[in-house]
Amino acid sequence: MAAAPRRACPRTGAEIRAAFLDFYEQRGHQPIASASLIPDDPTVLLTIAGMLPFKPVFLGQQQRPAARATSSQKCIRTNDIENVGRTARHHTFFEMLGNFSFGDYFKEQAIAWAWELSTEVFGLSPNNLVVSVFREDEEAEAIWRDGVGVNPKRIIRLDEADNFWASGPTGPCGPCSEIYYDFKPELGNDGIDLEDDSRFIEFYNLVFMQYNRDAGGTLTPLAARNIDTGLGLERMAQILQGVPNNYETDLIYPLIETAAQLAGVDYRALDTKGKTSLKVIGDHSRAITQLICDGVTASNLGRGYILRRLLRRVVRHGRLLGIDRPFLAAMGEASIALMQAAYPQLLERREVILAELEREEARFLETLERGEKLLAEVLAARPKQISGEQAFELYDTYGFPLELTEEIAEEHGLTVDLAGFEAAMEAQRQRAKAAAVSIDLTLQGAIEQMAAAAEATAFKGYEALEHPSCVLALVVNGEPAEQATAGDTVQLVLDSTPFYGEGGGQVGDRGVLSGDGVIVSIEGVSRNRSVFVHSGQIERGSLAIGALVTARVDGACRRRAQANHTATHLLQAALKQVVDPGIGQAGSLVDFDRLRFDFHCPRAVTPAELEQIEALINGWISEAHTLQVAEMAIEQAKAAGAVAMFGEKYADVVRVVDVPGVSMELCGGTHVA
Ligand code: SER
Repeated sequence: MAAAPRRACPRTGAEIRAAFLDFYEQRGHQPIASASLIPDDPTVLLTIAGMLPFKPVFLGQQQRPAARATSSQKCIRTNDIENVGRTARHHTFFEMLGNFSFGDYFKEQAIAWAWELSTEVFGLSPNNLVVSVFREDEEAEAIWRDGVGVNPKRIIRLDEADNFWASGPTGPCGPCSEIYYDFKPELGNDGIDLEDDSRFIEFYNLVFMQYNRDAGGTLTPLAARNIDTGLGLERMAQILQGVPNNYETDLIYPLIETAAQLAGVDYRALDTKGKTSLKVIGDHSRAITQLICDGVTASNLGRGYILRRLLRRVVRHGRLLGIDRPFLAAMGEASIALMQAAYPQLLERREVILAELEREEARFLETLERGEKLLAEVLAARPKQISGEQAFELYDTYGFPLELTEEIAEEHGLTVDLAGFEAAMEAQRQRAKAAAVSIDLTLQGAIEQMAAAAEATAFKGYEALEHPSCVLALVVNGEPAEQATAGDTVQLVLDSTPFYGEGGGQVGDRGVLSGDGVIVSIEGVSRNRSVFVHSGQIERGSLAIGALVTARVDGACRRRAQANHTATHLLQAALKQVVDPGIGQAGSLVDFDRLRFDFHCPRAVTPAELEQIEALINGWISEAHTLQVAEMAIEQAKAAGAVAMFGEKYADVVRVVDVPGVSMELCGGTHVA
């Protein structure tokens, strides 16, 4: 079975993490702290790989933090959620250890170090290792064979599906090469099938990041050749701890023990089904704790929905094991205790995490109770069988696990129409597919390409609503172009602009560009990192790259947005004063006609408090304070008491918006005077 680790080999998860980071730090890599699970990247909902925070660096859109970097990155993937707990190695939350080269070393060095780390530091015997290479990557194959000395029979060529890695449909990508651990080397070198996961586990993926893939699938070489690697911490822990699966490593097993204790069961004595439930609880508990820590709250949308789904799965599996009272706070406590040494932020956010777990669990338990009532009604009608639709409604609307419906049906001597259930499920899948928001990849790709090639836009809109600007790039009717004429829909980049680009909750400005016979109405402005993308239509004349225009913001709209933006600041101050000083902003929308302020609060705001808040804000407005804006170092701003939004990334120099004596916030938005 697993290689007997040599003396002084790292063994615990913490030791493996430290050994990896040390190894690469000693080789000139700058250690970079894990980024949030909420990525700074509109194309994905969650951080799905260690490379994600570096995507703009690979694309040459952001300066590299160093020539070489190393990190242990929190990741969540939910594409394989059904496999969690069933296979030995699938996770939602996991940690990816990575070493990165931004235009520095490449294939040969990356391979040599990966091998040295695996064999010398982790003490794995070469007899237990197999590598894969991309079918067409003869160079990588030669390095493994001739440079490292791997037996050619243990170098497996795989095709694109397995050994060409990309972070998404568009973006940086390249051929990759993986290292697998072989639990049964005695089976020999013939007919090696890396898909056989009773024998092999892939633990290290080396990506030779050298292309950018556009929306049309075309690969363009990146300016620099890069290295992106990922070593699965949980997988290495499984190998070095000699346990049969990732869940039984010290990174997760304590959570399984906590849940087993709560259920009054013994993990070792359970059948496969029971074990799977405990594994799901262990895996998902880490994920939901970390998601809430990074600022996600349960909802029916996006990240909030992922959290809700994972959390409900924990409750359902808990019920399958016989836990019939709230237990998520206990799982949250255990998860914090388990991970706080590596992620101290969990301790700081303990209250928020536990409160969110308790609240969402209570909400779900209520739904389950309503489902139980519905089921009772169904049974009272004395059916011959519980129909597929009924079982599906219980599952879909009331979160009833099918197994639970089956169990209750059985107690009444009934069965459930399983085929009908599957059919209803499939119909739902089809509906969801049809309703899925389809992003116009062509347009998005063209905009991204345009923005990537442009310099940061100089924003002039704090001081002026009108400004002379030059057109730097154009996307016309969805495609990059040199020129646009009347009737065309355009996205364009200017060298400098008075238009506010949507950000910090505030919507982008509207207005007009005018110049030599041309009028362009601008309906919105977004930001692609630091490049402002103006969207609109050519009303008259034609516009070409290089044209000089007068950019004029619609002042009436802007004033309304400004009033709403200052109002959100006052609202936050009033909430803190009246309801709870611990209230923190979770998001906001500052539109022309309305504002929305999202905040974390452990309880509902009462009508009496609402009245108080309203009176307080109206009082502040009638006092007509003079609002002050200043730029300063972030430490200075924080020391002065400026409120920052949790989870937001700020530059070293920040903009502070101060309504003296009332509210002081870090903010890049525009405000009333
Ligand atoms: N980005 C690659 C992966 O996620 C290597 O880190 O597998």
